[in-house]
Amino acid sequence: MNNNRLILIGLLIPAILMIPFSIISFYTDFANRNPDSLSVSVNFDQKEYNAVEGKKAFEQYQCMGCHTIVGNGAYFAPDLTTVHKRIGENDAALSNFILSGAPAKGMPHMLDRGMKEDDAYRITAFLKYTNMLDTNGWPGAGSWERDGNPDSTSAKKLAISDIWQALSGIVFINLLIFAIILAYENKKNDGEA
Ligand code: HEC
Repeated sequence: MNNNRLILIGLLIPAILMIPFSIISFYTDFANRNPDSLSVSVNFDQKEYNAVEGKKAFEQYQCMGCHTIVGNGAYFAPDLTTVHKRIGENDAALSNFILSGAPAKGMPHMLDRGMKEDDAYRITAFLKYTNMLDTNGWPGAGSWERDGNPDSTSAKKLAISDIWQALSGIVFINLLIFAIILAYENKKNDGEA
């Protein structure tokens, strides 16, 4: 086999490998798709409140002045991304907590700030939605270390079934290097001839 053919093979195989890789990257993107915020809702008093109106109420009452969502916001109070889970996925319990707060610990009594019950349920719908976001497990049990306990989340471990990704990456890079070296050798031989 002459060098030109080897170069072609070395370039063609990675090029062909790119096709399944591209498809797989699309597939995993779609598999991680977050829920539709309009379809995430909670019921209160025979009405339905969705996460989009909840976000507006969340902004209106300036929860971000103290809290964070996926790490964005202020660092006075706990991250609320997964608080819906922490509170046992109980919509009423979360809404009631938001309304009454914990003034002794710095969480304002929202009823005193003019919050209506329906707004608390709207916000709960929003927090239900943030809890469904694909954050790769972050922040686990919570992100707050006020009690001195470190965050219990550990990084996602690489599964043995993912090893094919590493292997095909190695094959891919090696074939490319192989093709480049052959091209270089070819050029050198041409020069000498
Ligand atoms: C002035 C600052 C401040 C504002 C504004 C504020 N919070 Fe808080 N919030 C806190 C603090 C501090 C705590 C932690 C209380 C504790 O020690 O239990 C807290 C706790 C919470 C918790 C319980 C967290 C957990 O991990 O169990 C929820 C839920 C919550 N707040 C929701 C809200 C919502 C929703 C808003 C907006 C309507 C809001 N907070 C506005 C300070 C604030």
